[in-house]
Amino acid sequence: MSKISVGILGATGMVGQTIVQLMEKHPWFEVTELAASDRSAGLKYGDAMVNRWNASAEMPDYAKSLRIKECKPNLDCDIVLSALDSGVAKEIEEDFAKSGYAVSSNAKNHRMDPDVPLLIPEINAEHVGLIKKQRKDRGWKGFIVTDPNCSTIHMCLALKPLFDSFGIEKVMVTTMQALSGAGYPGVPSMDIVDNVIPFISDEEEKVETEPLKIFGRLSDGAIRQARMWISAQCNRVAVRHGHTECVSVKLSKKANRDEIIDAFEGFVPTKSAALPSSPKHPVVYMKQDNRPQPKLDVNLGGGMVSVVGRLRPCSILDYKFVVLGHNLVRGAAGAAILNAELLKSAGYVR
Ligand SMILES: NC(=O)c1ccc[n+]([C@@H]2O[C@H](COP(=O)([O-])OP(=O)(O)OC[C@H]3O[C@@H](n4cnc5c(N)ncnc54)[C@H](OP(=O)(O)O)[C@@H]3O)[C@@H](O)[C@H]2O)c1
Repeated sequence: MSKISVGILGATGMVGQTIVQLMEKHPWFEVTELAASDRSAGLKYGDAMVNRWNASAEMPDYAKSLRIKECKPNLDCDIVLSALDSGVAKEIEEDFAKSGYAVSSNAKNHRMDPDVPLLIPEINAEHVGLIKKQRKDRGWKGFIVTDPNCSTIHMCLALKPLFDSFGIEKVMVTTMQALSGAGYPGVPSMDIVDNVIPFISDEEEKVETEPLKIFGRLSDGAIRQARMWISAQCNRVAVRHGHTECVSVKLSKKANRDEIIDAFEGFVPTKSAALPSSPKHPVVYMKQDNRPQPKLDVNLGGGMVSVVGRLRPCSILDYKFVVLGHNLVRGAAGAAILNAELLKSAGYVR
């Protein structure tokens, strides 16, 4: 099978370099283009990243000699994975979609557009059905799909088995989010060492609204949002990778603790089963009292799973638990790759 050619927009950033790393041996895709700002354009990737390569593995050989281009829609590829700063992503992604490219984005700009799929393939793969309307209404040859905010993704993966088995009415979540979630160079060290910052711009709004679209139903070319109430408090903490979230839920149907753990452990999604980056068990339940922890558990399942633990009764809602997930892998780069795989398997890219 000949591989589908892929370009990475924002290839020099924290998410972009994680995509570069994860794409090294991809069975369906081959990276042919890397692009970033005019600060990086013209340099070989290996040279541009000498002091910026932060990914956990060595830089793949294929990327070292690729010359970084500007983010203009003249790249030699069929699909672009966008890891662009949200300050510039909107227009650049639209230019690519207008010019016929399939765009799988990490940026926040188009997530809540009614005609743009906000995808977690294990939950709402059928939302790709919005693409037809998007192209028709906007007159675009290409299209945009997005992945959710990094905290949203892990919370929604943990909620999905409960949503299916018992229904969900209310969610309260407090996040402790890693430094790499703020990009590079991110939060100044003098601000975060020995500290917790109880504010991340726009984050609480994203965590409270995106799940309603993700768990919504596609009907007559539109998403009918799910009915649940979510309250979020988001904090930046001095952890390198991995967002930890303390979640309380009110279920629609009564359930005991064993039934909830069975739901977590028995969650084997079918819609995404054939996709190369899809974990067989996207939710891993840890029984130890003091887990999950970012330092110990963030790389479980190659960073593509949400790690849940500490399930116990909540005296205000029904149950509470902790979920941990890799913000750069499943929370961003791996999510955009998984969405691209979904687009291929559904016939939107060939
Ligand atoms: N970090 C996370 O955990 C995470 C999780 C989920 C979603 N996201 C989203 O993913 C995107 C990337 O995040 P990040 O953490 O990787 O940010 P980052 O480290 O700051 O990287 C930003 C990238 O955008 C490029 N860029 C900036 N200005 C540009 C311009 N005018 N034209 C073209 N390219 C430009 C940068 O290129 P230069 O190097 O050339 O400046 C760099 O490649 C953001 O939208 C972010 O909100 C991040």
